[in-house]
Amino acid sequence: MASTVVEKARKVVCVTGAGGFVASSLIKLLLSNDYIVHGTVRQLNDAKYAHLNKLDKASENLKLFKADLLDYGSLVSAIHGCSGVFHVASPVPPASVPNPEVELIEPAVNGTLNVLKACVEAKIERVIYVSSSAAVALNPNWPKDQVMDETCWSDKDYCKRTENWYCLSKTLAESEAWEFSKKTGLDVVAICPTLVLGPILQSNVNSSTLVLLKLLKEGYDSIENRLRVIVDVRDVADAILMGYEKPEAEGRYICTSHLIKAKDLVDKLKSLYPNYNYPKKFTEVENDLKLSSEKLQKLGWSSRPLNETLTDSIESYRAAGLLD
Ligand SMILES: NC(=O)c1ccc[n+]([C@@H]2O[C@H](COP(=O)([O-])OP(=O)(O)OC[C@H]3O[C@@H](n4cnc5c(N)ncnc54)[C@H](OP(=O)(O)O)[C@@H]3O)[C@@H](O)[C@H]2O)c1
Repeated sequence: MASTVVEKARKVVCVTGAGGFVASSLIKLLLSNDYIVHGTVRQLNDAKYAHLNKLDKASENLKLFKADLLDYGSLVSAIHGCSGVFHVASPVPPASVPNPEVELIEPAVNGTLNVLKACVEAKIERVIYVSSSAAVALNPNWPKDQVMDETCWSDKDYCKRTENWYCLSKTLAESEAWEFSKKTGLDVVAICPTLVLGPILQSNVNSSTLVLLKLLKEGYDSIENRLRVIVDVRDVADAILMGYEKPEAEGRYICTSHLIKAKDLVDKLKSLYPNYNYPKKFTEVENDLKLSSEKLQKLGWSSRPLNETLTDSIESYRAAGLLD
């Protein structure tokens, strides 16, 4: 990123999908750092975005724009006048969807390209694209004992064969973003978080929050003892901001903190909150996954302990009445 940016101008940024779980936490961080934020939402004045206007400094420094990822003109209006863009919006369904091409792939891929084109038009200094470990780790041919880093990509054919449409949507979208960046010279940095937990600010329940809520509430007879690879939403927001502010940031960054098997996670939750309706049994499955955030740590990133993430998540669910 050019170091000649006027400080004040650098402080006007756009966040797509402002009302979502990750974006809300990011906007809170940006406002607390005196950024002026253009947030995109699909419907202005919808009650599900009310939490945004309650954030500190929102009344002076947050402006919401109605925009859809598939409506180029709406993105141009939201991005106009900004020097940085945080492209966070993408569909993250909690379960399989009937028409993945329309519901997932198109908004993820064409939506990302629309955002990037609008960024070129607006001469944006740097774009932070929120990708996912879903674009990194789904590769059956990767040696199980070898740690995955930013050179790793999910195998698109494998995603298709296994009908893992969300992983496919993120893998295609991120690959297209890099192609676009190469072609146009647009400065793009990608952050690839694993499962994001932590306190919710929004009123609706997003997919990753649902994973933890179900462990607490569902009372499953049996679940697979799968690995959970967790990062705190506030640490993801820090990583995203660091990716924007650090001139030396480049390429992709895996953003993860804790690797824990489902049973160990449930034991930990039980030790903190003994009285929820936890899974009763665990069946063993083969899953070795090693992911490293060393590159992000070298940029100066550090993260919270897991107990803090779990406690703050559950307290926020309680406050929202989700555990009644
Ligand atoms: N949570 C995780 O565990 C996790 C892990 C890795 C990566 N990520 C990535 O982080 C980003 C945010 O995820 P999240 O967990 O915060 O999910 P979320 O709460 O469901 O937020 C997704 C956001 O995308 C917006 N969106 C979806 N389709 C859109 C469209 N066609 N036009 C405009 N906006 C659209 C949604 O808008 P509405 O509010 O209008 O529905 C929502 O604000 C995604 O890119 C996701 O892939 C998340």
